[in-house]
Amino acid sequence: MKTISSALELKAYLRNENKTIGYVPTMGALHEGHITLIKEAKKNNEVVVVSIFVNPTQFLAGEDLDKYPRRDEADKKICELAGVDVLFMPQADELYFEDEVKIVAPNVRGYVLEGATRPGHFSGVLRVVMKLLNIVNPTNAYFGKKDAQQLNLIELMIKQYFMDVNIVPVDTVRDADGLALSSRNVYLSKEQRQEALKIPKSLYEASKMVSRGIVNVAEIKEQMLKILEPLEIGYVAILSREFEPIDEVVIGESIILVEALVGDTRLLDNIWL
Ligand code: PAJ
Repeated sequence: MKTISSALELKAYLRNENKTIGYVPTMGALHEGHITLIKEAKKNNEVVVVSIFVNPTQFLAGEDLDKYPRRDEADKKICELAGVDVLFMPQADELYFEDEVKIVAPNVRGYVLEGATRPGHFSGVLRVVMKLLNIVNPTNAYFGKKDAQQLNLIELMIKQYFMDVNIVPVDTVRDADGLALSSRNVYLSKEQRQEALKIPKSLYEASKMVSRGIVNVAEIKEQMLKILEPLEIGYVAILSREFEPIDEVVIGESIILVEALVGDTRLLDNIWL
């Protein structure tokens, strides 16, 4: 595995390779979810590139940028074992410029749900993803369905900016107890983790209701909120796959998203129905 920290060096190196490139952007503290993305990339590409960059522009003031878990050495080993060809670990001062030309998240879709609780977050995500995709210039880029709104906005950016990369969405990987894997799960105490399980449970109950033929959004939401009590809820949203409001769930076309606060930790989960 080759580890490169310079964007220009990586660009030059990959240009010489002239092969299909699968790319997995991450912020590190790698877990089985990230590894699944890497495995998917290994299946269909000649070269697999992973980046680790805790992107400062997607953290709002007062968020966990400083305490976000950093495990560079362990992450390098994980990448090597997973068969990654190139690990890109850039520094912020090479990626960002003063008085920069900026891409921003769309006014509506970038400021609902996660974008409402974290205004400006998705501008930071799109800004860095645009840069990273331009540096790596991959054939395929892999993103988790776990961050459904992020995935949706990245797909929108690719379409609206006529970019060539193929985006591959990957199913959410869960722990044995059902909790979706997240680098932020390390913040949870044992008791908080038990409380957090209400999130996947509410989604599972919702999917059971739908399979029993209950498709009314208000009814499903009410049941989910009961299960989630007493957690502080950011949102429970039942939407079309295009993130439009709906009254009834349509199988194959809908998504249910939950954001809840467990202690100080904001957890996201969703189910694609
Ligand atoms: P990060 O949270 O490190 O996640 C990197 C990728 O792994 C994202 O595409 C995310 O959706 C995916 N992922 C995380 N948990 C997952 C799980 N349990 N199952 C499947 N996939 C999972 O998302 C980011 O970093 C950043 O916003 C980034 C896109 C790298 C831009 O900075």
